[in-house]
Amino acid sequence: MAYYFEEPAHTFGEYLLVPGYSSDKCIPANVSLQTPLVKFKKGEEPKIKLNVPMTSAIMQAVSNDTMAIALAKEGGVSFIFGSQSIESQAEMVTRVKNYKSGFVNSDSNIKPTTTLGEILELKDKTGHSTMAVTDDGTATGKLVGIVTSRDYRITRMTLDAQAKDFMTPFAKLIYADAETTNLSQANDMIWDNKLNMLPLIDKNQRLRYMVFRKDYTDNKENKLELIDCKKRYVVGAGINTRDYAQRVPALLKAGADVLCIDSSEGFSEWQSITLKYIHENFGEDIKVGAGNVVDAEGFRFLAEAGADFIKVGIGGGSICITRETKGIGRGQATAVIDVARARDEYFRETGIYIPICSDGGIVHDYHMTLALAMGSDFMMLGRYFSRFDESPTNKVRINGTYYKEYWGEGSNRARNWQRYDMGGDKKLSFEEGVDSYVPYAGPLKDNVGLALSKMRSTMCNCGALSIKEFQEKAKLTLVSSTSIVEGGSHDVILKDQFSHE
Ligand code: IMP
Repeated sequence: MAYYFEEPAHTFGEYLLVPGYSSDKCIPANVSLQTPLVKFKKGEEPKIKLNVPMTSAIMQAVSNDTMAIALAKEGGVSFIFGSQSIESQAEMVTRVKNYKSGFVNSDSNIKPTTTLGEILELKDKTGHSTMAVTDDGTATGKLVGIVTSRDYRITRMTLDAQAKDFMTPFAKLIYADAETTNLSQANDMIWDNKLNMLPLIDKNQRLRYMVFRKDYTDNKENKLELIDCKKRYVVGAGINTRDYAQRVPALLKAGADVLCIDSSEGFSEWQSITLKYIHENFGEDIKVGAGNVVDAEGFRFLAEAGADFIKVGIGGGSICITRETKGIGRGQATAVIDVARARDEYFRETGIYIPICSDGGIVHDYHMTLALAMGSDFMMLGRYFSRFDESPTNKVRINGTYYKEYWGEGSNRARNWQRYDMGGDKKLSFEEGVDSYVPYAGPLKDNVGLALSKMRSTMCNCGALSIKEFQEKAKLTLVSSTSIVEGGSHDVILKDQFSHE
């Protein structure tokens, strides 16, 4: 007869934290959100720690090099999506490792023949008004000029005017040598010449970077940034259970600090074969996460297979239709609680602590705090990060409101068949994810900053100054459906719903 779990599986929205005693030391400024990313032995330190408990999902619509840099600046880690060629994934990793803080790769590039109409469209899409004009319209082409909003007047020019006729040409630009200029010299040139942006070029006049005046304060403010021993940003990369023999060495060569097997269902021999191959061929020191699982048995299997961290969650992702197509999954909160218990039991037995990651299903900021309280060491988020400027997808305007595109790895758009691989044909026979829009939410830094300040504040309400202490002290209660209604504002009419006469 089938096995039945005794309790129904619950999700985050069905729980609340009950505050505990907080002393006068319990203030948000004293809270540390540092957390282990990879396994470690009792009494030893983990080889990689996160400064904030957030990772961005292994998805085309979420984690490219731009996202990885923005998140590492705030103390978290991105896992660059693996559903692309080995070469392009490795290039993204390289770009993160080569990134020099403050030196930006131009993301709005135009050709001399680009029209004003196209420029306005691009500005709307990227939100950036400074555009490099290169001979071939690429980010590394020969720099021939710059266009900013000061170069055109929409009311006096026609939309078919070409960049070459109104740009600031190269001859009039102040620029610097990309090889020899450091950030403080670049900033001095910006201040001395009253510039908004300084282009850095190589000896062939090809554009390498841009340094912006507006980033000046930003560049000085990243106390939590996550860097390796060579002061480069830490970055992760997704891998699959098919081409690891080629993909893994390329990613390691590019400088990836940590890898993660990206699969919708991790309790499988494919994962143990992959982990074994990597550790035997590239060394025990190579850090590889595995998953996803939703119960203690799945955790134990991956722990014994050598996983360095284990991801938890099936069917709870915002773009996920796995539960309705296949009927598998488990409420995310129950899955995390069950796997966290298994992790603690494994630690007591073996002295090895394997961090767990709650993956998917975070809807409100406080869900992250609940996931930590329930035992998660860190979270992986897709929808959350896809809404920000730094995600790789288009920003679109629909009926006056801005949205970003967001699609699942199991959708026809991503066609990431390796993630759903069960052997056999190399194709997706049915979709497990949807293609969607999410409300645009602005820069990552502002949103993450706000979410973390809520997290620190809740931890203080529970008397905890670290994630470990929080997990030990947290008191959680299930809520009834009636009290969920009580949780939002209720029985009042919000003022912003009235239009004033
Ligand atoms: P979200 O944060 O709720 O948007 O969930 C993101 C997570 O959903 C990812 O980290 C994956 O584990 C999972 N995921 C990504 N693509 C798909 C899909 O197409 N179907 C099901 N789950 C997906």
